[in-house]
Amino acid sequence: MSHQQDVVLQLDKVTKKIGKQTIVDQLSFEVKKGEIVGLLGPNGAGKTTTIRMIVGLIGMTSGEVLINGQSIRSSFSKAIARVGAIVENPEFYSYMTGWDNLKQYQRMIPSITVERMKQVVDVVGLTDAMNKKVKSYSLGMRQRLGIAQALMHSPSILILDEPTNGLDPAGIREMRDYLKTIAQQEGIAVLVSSHLLSEIELMCSRVVVIQQGKFVHEQLIGGAQIQQDGNEEFNVLVRVNQLEQAKQLLVGREELQFIQANELTNELEIRCKDEALANYIHELSAHRISVYRVVEVKRSLEDEFLTWTGGNQIV
Ligand SMILES: Nc1ncnc2c1ncn2[C@@H]1O[C@H](COP(=O)(O)OP(=O)(O)O)[C@@H](O)[C@H]1O
Ligand SMILES: [Mg+2]
Repeated sequence: MSHQQDVVLQLDKVTKKIGKQTIVDQLSFEVKKGEIVGLLGPNGAGKTTTIRMIVGLIGMTSGEVLINGQSIRSSFSKAIARVGAIVENPEFYSYMTGWDNLKQYQRMIPSITVERMKQVVDVVGLTDAMNKKVKSYSLGMRQRLGIAQALMHSPSILILDEPTNGLDPAGIREMRDYLKTIAQQEGIAVLVSSHLLSEIELMCSRVVVIQQGKFVHEQLIGGAQIQQDGNEEFNVLVRVNQLEQAKQLLVGREELQFIQANELTNELEIRCKDEALANYIHELSAHRISVYRVVEVKRSLEDEFLTWTGGNQIV
């Protein structure tokens, strides 16, 4: 599969102005099949406005949104046909069972089979609750029913605006688990927004950070980071027998950034990429400097976040 085919959602310089205020400012990012991407930003950053533009609830001032290559502006019905979204809280008839609520929705889209309904109910883990009235559902179960409904027409992307709002930690954990299942089993892309870094970190494989309507940073998360191509910079602690000499070898070399030295432990912290580190280790041994340890310094996502946003706290 080529890169282009993998891209399900593409935002290109999406901008929203209301009056004199620019609420979303030239925002570009993409979401690929199988990915769970978090749209992270503090309250008022423009997450809901962005999502409302993606699903066509409001117009864009400029820019473009493509869903499977179809423009939401010029081919709205084709583009939106492949989107499943929950933007506001989904409304259900609380005196009806979960199944009857889904049936109600199915009547509007006749192509949805009962087989398919059972399948999505299973994916969100609600099979046993289908004959219970929605009024007896917990908030988390209502969320899942909403997601089942959004999945019924087999979208290629599922979009959820602040889906964990009001959920307890157990509910959030549950949501993380079934979003992963959905992304894998359904082979679709997922975009979730949140103002909480801790939640995005648990749920997503990649994060797109926005502030005041602008793109700030994007980053792979957790296991996804390992699949990177060696072109990423990282910090590493190198423990040697001759700290001063090892440090001298860094002088004037742009690809090896000196961070700090610890004379007590004989450790140097440097920032570099794969190849630069390999070359440095070769050079250390060429100078007969012994290397005792090479350990990556993992920064928490929260630390990273503070650098991306210039120290602005999010959580
Ligand atoms: N219809 C509107 N008219 C004027 N300002 C709006 C409108 N909708 C949103 N805003 C403003 O745009 C900014 C972003 O809002 P929103 O997209 O809801 O942010 P988030 O979902 O990230 O909390 C906020 O400052 C909000 O007050
Ligand atoms: Mg919002």
